[in-house]
Amino acid sequence: MIQAVIFDLDGVIVSTDECHYQAWKALADREGIPFSRRDNHRLRGVSRMESLAIVLEKAKRSYSNEEKRGMAAYKNELYVRLINELTPDDLLPGAQSAAVRLRGMGIKTAIGSSSKNAPAILEHLGITRLFDAVADGNGIKRSKPAPDVFLLAAKMLRISPEHCLVVEDAVAGVDAAINAGMGCIGLGDAKRHPGVLVGAEALGLFDLPVWVALHNTKTT
Ligand code: BG6
Ligand code: MG
Repeated sequence: MIQAVIFDLDGVIVSTDECHYQAWKALADREGIPFSRRDNHRLRGVSRMESLAIVLEKAKRSYSNEEKRGMAAYKNELYVRLINELTPDDLLPGAQSAAVRLRGMGIKTAIGSSSKNAPAILEHLGITRLFDAVADGNGIKRSKPAPDVFLLAAKMLRISPEHCLVVEDAVAGVDAAINAGMGCIGLGDAKRHPGVLVGAEALGLFDLPVWVALHNTKTT
């Protein structure tokens, strides 16, 4: 029985990939490190410092911890400037209506995101009030594929993990949901993950509330 749906943010509700890419690319260019959109793909669902470690894999020299903190702060400054431009027009199709309809069915909704910028992004998109809980990178030590962010969301909702369904677009995120003991819907690249209950290209092409209603009818 599904009592709550936990949405990943980046790639499920809003596409911030390009903003992350532009900010990491500016840092990589400054440091003379090669960085492509393909490299950027590997950063999805991964925390800021772990993302930096991936960016630095192609660096010619090693960096001190202080330098790394400085680089992460520089990237985030650029990224925040870009996400400050987000508006409700940047919502991915189907995301807002899925949350509204699920709540109408008595299903709790939450965000489970590795991003420390999640609350600000939700504000810019104008959808903060659509979620009963927001679990993000500020409240966890280990990021996806560790289950922490989804377990935190379940705890905030006071719903046990087996009654939570996760919606994810990153392989690391599907692994995190499975590690949390939760069912998972895989979107985009994650739709082919062998552990997902069902895969779809995007929320705009998949009727999540109807799927949840049918699932709950079968399990009662
Ligand atoms: C995830 C993104 O949601 O958040 C990752 O998919 C990103 O690409 C991570 O690295 C951390 O984001 P932030 O905003 O805390 O730097
Ligand atoms: Mg994502």
